[in-house]
Amino acid sequence: MKKIPVIIDCDPGCDDTIALLLAFANKVLDIKGITVSAGNVHINNTTENTRRLVGNFSSEINIARGCEKPLFKTIVTAPEVHGESGIGNVTLPETKKEIEKLNAVEYLAKTLKEATEKITIVITGPMTNIAVFLMTYPELKEKIEKFVIMGGSSIGGNVTPTAEFNIYVDAEAADIVFKSGVEIILCPLDVTMKAFIKDDELLKIKSIGSLASEVAFGAIDHALSFYKQTYGRDSVPMHDPCTIAYLLNPNIFEGKKAFVATELRGEFTYGETIIDYNDKLKRTKNVLVLNNINREAFVEMLYDSIKKI
Ligand code: BDR
Ligand code: CA
Repeated sequence: MKKIPVIIDCDPGCDDTIALLLAFANKVLDIKGITVSAGNVHINNTTENTRRLVGNFSSEINIARGCEKPLFKTIVTAPEVHGESGIGNVTLPETKKEIEKLNAVEYLAKTLKEATEKITIVITGPMTNIAVFLMTYPELKEKIEKFVIMGGSSIGGNVTPTAEFNIYVDAEAADIVFKSGVEIILCPLDVTMKAFIKDDELLKIKSIGSLASEVAFGAIDHALSFYKQTYGRDSVPMHDPCTIAYLLNPNIFEGKKAFVATELRGEFTYGETIIDYNDKLKRTKNVLVLNNINREAFVEMLYDSIKKI
């Protein structure tokens, strides 16, 4: 099977951790590097979490540290969901893996410049690194196959009444990415809230009994506690893994092409994603928005993948 070259830009993060494990397990993805963003926790923590995840599970992959802050605002983090370290109570074993000398933007530029085929960029955190890259190296846009992004919502927000976290943290960066002209597949809350895992399914993953299953269990269980306390749910949405799952099997998703933009000025709606499903604005449809998933197939994919590591 032809491999899919990808770069993953992420902010691990409980659900970013599951996305990375899913990617590591499936060798059809040719991971050309991981660039780290600030988001769920401070960049020092997201970088350290990535370093340990890669070091323990897929040590050949290069990691580059990204921007510390959003383009214009101060950083907003989410330790209540992801824990102070970023992966709940998980302690990953120490590893000798080293971080690249190049920062994320320079790493993206070098990798895309040298690439002989186009590369897909998966984004599972605030989009600061990618926006800076697009502004600094506009000529390299043509080397990007597409963006597959977790972010946004047309069903209400998880930070403000209307804004989803990844977009809210750096809405100006998201605006640059949505306007880039690059093909975009978006996994907003519309689909990720349907991609949930239940507590009994989580216990099945735990029962695999490997380091990967222990890490996956710890990461998901921490987020599950938050969802139980805050929303009274016995399941937790797997937001970020939807991006990787889409690359592995797009057939388990449904979606619709639509014009997507970011609200940058609203008094109450800053960071809202406008998803014009019904073409009210008559603008160019710049994004394929995923809004449904075969949940059972998705959970099976997660289980099978974690078992493979
Ligand atoms: C997104 O925000 C983060 O907290 C998660 O990692 C995910 O990327 C969900 O809104
Ligand atoms: Ca994330």
